[in-house]
Amino acid sequence: MKRTLVVANWKMNLNTHEASTLLHRLHEYIPAHRDIEVVLAPSTLVLQPLSIEIDRRKFRLAAQNAYHRDSGAFTGEVSYTMLRELVHYAIVGHSERRIYFNETLETIRDKVAAAIRNDIDPILCVGETKQERTDGETKIVIHDQIVTALAHLTSEEISRVVIAYEPVWAISTFGGEVAKPDDIEKVIAQIRHTISELYGATVAEDIRILYGGSVDENSVTTYLAVPGCDGALVGSASLNYRKFAAIVEAAYQQHYTEIIRGDG
Ligand code: 13P
Repeated sequence: MKRTLVVANWKMNLNTHEASTLLHRLHEYIPAHRDIEVVLAPSTLVLQPLSIEIDRRKFRLAAQNAYHRDSGAFTGEVSYTMLRELVHYAIVGHSERRIYFNETLETIRDKVAAAIRNDIDPILCVGETKQERTDGETKIVIHDQIVTALAHLTSEEISRVVIAYEPVWAISTFGGEVAKPDDIEKVIAQIRHTISELYGATVAEDIRILYGGSVDENSVTTYLAVPGCDGALVGSASLNYRKFAAIVEAAYQQHYTEIIRGDG
């Protein structure tokens, strides 16, 4: 059975002091669970200080963004090369980056390749907007996002990628509508089908797929119970240590319920 992955995306919140305080609370409230992997994605600014303070038995770090070139005259940018000693994962293709920073399918493809080249596992976010959903384009949008993003990877490299399905309309800041488990299940199955066509059935089965979009301590169990869902990408609820600790605890309970039932 795969380890459940719970990722906290702190987005552009918390200065160095605030991030350190939250980390200390999380250390207190979250025990180490062997089968649950907990990843924190703070702002780039605080990755370095947090990397010194973090208990690596409990947490791993992720970058929220970086530039796809390794070094050079790119004023203001931070590269994956600079982050390689600090982080295990990098979020790539988040809808806020696609929408607010005009990241294209090709930009995202280059970032996925740069992360892999620098030994960082990408958490590739995909998801349709409300308009695309209304127009019946969910399938094609997600297919294109995946095929382009992974275009430069070999089948060995692909096994290091995590995919997060985050319907834009379900993210708290873009409306936060509640996604139905059935709809999520369909999209996750479709993602595995696309991966299977590209890289074969074994890779498709093994790749971890998360759900993200207004996940909190009350809804997490429902989402983790969706067939094929291997974890959660959490935004606003991850800024509250009680809520995030409850999310991790729920993931733990769910994981062991499934083991006892013999699922997976
Ligand atoms: P919310 O959990 O605030 O909806 O954010 C989801 C998200 O964008 C995580 O990357």
